[in-house]
Amino acid sequence: MTAGVGPCALPLVGLTWGIKRSFIRYIGTLPDGRHAMSEGTYLGETSYFTFPPAPAPDTPQVMRFGGVVRLGGHGGMLDILIAEPWVEMTGSGPILSVIDPTGWPDRTRRIPLAELHLWEAAHGLTERRYAATLTGAGAVIFDDHYPPGTELDMLVIE
Ligand code: HEM
Repeated sequence: MTAGVGPCALPLVGLTWGIKRSFIRYIGTLPDGRHAMSEGTYLGETSYFTFPPAPAPDTPQVMRFGGVVRLGGHGGMLDILIAEPWVEMTGSGPILSVIDPTGWPDRTRRIPLAELHLWEAAHGLTERRYAATLTGAGAVIFDDHYPPGTELDMLVIE
């Protein structure tokens, strides 16, 4: 290891996303609000989740990340699963897709969760930041509390 550079000084490699600040705050206010991470997902100090790069190789059209985040509360009535987020290039721009939570644990079906807008690519050599807005399919995940087009947290890929 390079002298003076411990593992904590290294940027986290993966897709880092806070989902939506007001939603994370809402979960935090519920008496039984909880979050659970698995398959390599890491929770940073400021409630940003980092999903690790997936073992499958990326292609020019798809950047794949693994990991699972589950957010719950209201005695189990609120149960949100965000698993294996991918950034996919489509004809109408990049999107963030995740495994369709209604089919879980089947991992073959995916839904578009957010439309992405490249914000900044020059911060460091590899970092990319995307602004994210909710899709119609994503609105269903949040029980239609947010209309499609709602602004979500900025997403960072390192
Ligand atoms: C017993 C059932 C539920 C009750 C009593 C309840 C109650 C509430 C209340 C009072 C708020 C407003 C919070 C505030 O503005 O401070 C809220 C917001 C919200 N609830 Fe629930 N809720 C329930 C179930 C659910 C479920 C099943 C979901 C599914 C995802 C959900 C998702 C949300 C979202 C996304 C918001 C908006 C949070 C924000 O961004 O401010 N809730 N809920």
